Amino acid sequence: MTARFPFEVRAFAKINLTLRVLGLRPDGYHELRTVFQSLAIHDRLRFERIAGPFEIVCDDSRCPVDRTNLVWRAAALVWRAAGRRDAMTGVRVSIRKRIPMQAGLGGGSSDAAATLRALVPHWAPDLEAGQLDRIGASLGADVPFFLHGGTVLGLERGDRLFPLRAREREWVVLVQPDFGVGTPDAYRWFDERTPMASRRRGLGPYAEGGNDLEAPVARHHPAITRIVRGLRRNGARWAAMSGSGSVCFGLFATRPGAEAAGRALAGPRCATIVTRTLTTEEHARGAAPVHARVRG
Ligand code: C5P
Repeated sequence: MTARFPFEVRAFAKINLTLRVLGLRPDGYHELRTVFQSLAIHDRLRFERIAGPFEIVCDDSRCPVDRTNLVWRAAALVWRAAGRRDAMTGVRVSIRKRIPMQAGLGGGSSDAAATLRALVPHWAPDLEAGQLDRIGASLGADVPFFLHGGTVLGLERGDRLFPLRAREREWVVLVQPDFGVGTPDAYRWFDERTPMASRRRGLGPYAEGGNDLEAPVARHHPAITRIVRGLRRNGARWAAMSGSGSVCFGLFATRPGAEAAGRALAGPRCATIVTRTLTTEEHARGAAPVHARVRG
């Protein structure tokens, strides 16, 4: 059923439980084998009707609100998929940003996927699911994952997806240092450091196995190594950098264990967030539109 305006959707974050870089592709992207895991921490996007041109507002001034925002680009692709060639009108998207940016948590991609899900029923209701996935992939390699959520194996650019069985719920401590990492930089540092011949051959096990971008990023930002060690010392049964960084995560069996580690690791140069993993079903329920009351 199509949600009536105004409505609100949640855009959940992800971590990469493992991220293996298998080689460079002819299109310039890297061939990946990664396991995505949805987290409960989320941005909220409110969609409302307005009389004028399409606009974005955001409660975080560091977040662009022009056409460089993936939300804008996602909306524009839906508008075009509906056959419109004029400028977008009639909708305002208000973003409440809670997922750290430049963090490896996929915040921008998740907001883009949430926008696709929100606007397709209104602007392009006849769009097929396959087309939606293709539009998602054209916005960013991890956008298709955010259209599904849960625990998912990603191959190729990370956009060919194979859902995995739901894992037991785990508590997750995110540690955000006082710097971000741009995704292209992380891959460039990987390329500079890893001669083609020494790259992993074949496909290793996809259980937690580490993140191939972690060592190259840690060479430029040694704090990454200290944070991962700190998470392990504070009881994480697994800890690594997420995606291209800079956020690192630790997995904990219990909430009190995660909260104690979060408190121990928080400091003037490190923010910590305690959250938990989400299954595909929890992701689908949580991401569904809810009617928003009109704010005064
Ligand atoms: O697809 P997305 O825009 O999120 O990717 C950002 C950048 O990350 C790309 O321009 C590329 O430099 C790098 N990347 C890559 N291989 C991937 C995914 C991302 O090289 N599989």
